Amino acid sequence: MSSFLMPLGEIQPSQLYISEVKLKKVETYLDTIDARSFEPLPIKRIGDATFFTDGHTRAFALAKRGVEEVPVYWDQDNLDWLQYLICLAWCDEAGISDISGLDDRVVDHSTYRRLWHRRCDVMQKAVTEGKYDGVHTQEVSDPADKSRIAEGILRSLPAWFGVEEALQGYVRGVAETDFFTVQVGKRPVGFISLLEHNEFTSEIYCMGIFEEVHGRGLGTELLARSEKELIQNGKKVLTVKTLGDSDPDPDYEQTKRFYRSVGFLPLEESTAIWGPEAPCLFMAKFLG
Ligand SMILES: CC(C)(COP(=O)(O)OP(=O)(O)OC[C@H]1O[C@@H](n2cnc3c(N)ncnc32)[C@H](O)[C@@H]1OP(=O)(O)O)[C@@H](O)C(=O)NCCC(=O)NCCS
Repeated sequence: MSSFLMPLGEIQPSQLYISEVKLKKVETYLDTIDARSFEPLPIKRIGDATFFTDGHTRAFALAKRGVEEVPVYWDQDNLDWLQYLICLAWCDEAGISDISGLDDRVVDHSTYRRLWHRRCDVMQKAVTEGKYDGVHTQEVSDPADKSRIAEGILRSLPAWFGVEEALQGYVRGVAETDFFTVQVGKRPVGFISLLEHNEFTSEIYCMGIFEEVHGRGLGTELLARSEKELIQNGKKVLTVKTLGDSDPDPDYEQTKRFYRSVGFLPLEESTAIWGPEAPCLFMAKFLG
């Protein structure tokens, strides 16, 4: 675990309250040590959000003592990042962007348990049942927004979009397509970009979801929203091009498993589109 210093103002809390009792304990502990020798705090970055995964009380107490930079390390644990994104959305709603945003949210321990633990318990139960608070799809119309959102997500998926030239092609290309995001609160965590070919057929030009929340049904939700719009516009077929089976890439195997699970059928593999290095598999789905 390598640690480094980061300004407190650049790290968002993922919690809405501080327990007074816990704060007193941390303050007593801080009185006994040099604040600079404090153990590093775990943080995580998803997209442009950098947030504490733990240690809010310690960060808060340090801020109260005028500390501006804290030792941190990247949390490598396999946590439920969708739950964290929901907590970040709660913080966004409450206008909490850094630890000082919790200044007027120090509460006695029973209030802390009532307001925070209970809220988290309800959310965790809902997430386990596949009901995600604040998760919704949204159409984006501004071309610059489409490119910016796509770039942030595609750059976080180097196993699929690691070739810079191709990535830049997608970032430019999505600006001219129909574009939907799946969001947790105000944060896009995935997108789909649709290219219209003719009155009957559209193609998935590109899609991506932050890897931390793969396999949570968000891609399926995005596709369902897209299909609804396409059907309303009279489209009959949706196609997609992906890496063919003669390249046994495990990451693209996961992609094809997704497309098959949402009803796409493989049509034909060809090297005429992307060349012999990247066999292209055409897939299609009948709509409606
Ligand atoms: C492909 C992708 C868009 C799918 O979105 P997603 O939110 O992860 O998919 P969902 O959670 O809706 O999964 C639906 C099905 O896909 C398969 N699947 C999705 N993620 C999977 C994973 N990590 N491992 C295994 N199967 C997976 C499963 O069959 C799943 O069905 P199940 O939940 O009933 O088992 C997403 O994983 C992604 O961004 N991948 C990297 C980029 C990419 O491949 N883009 C498409 C090429 S342009």
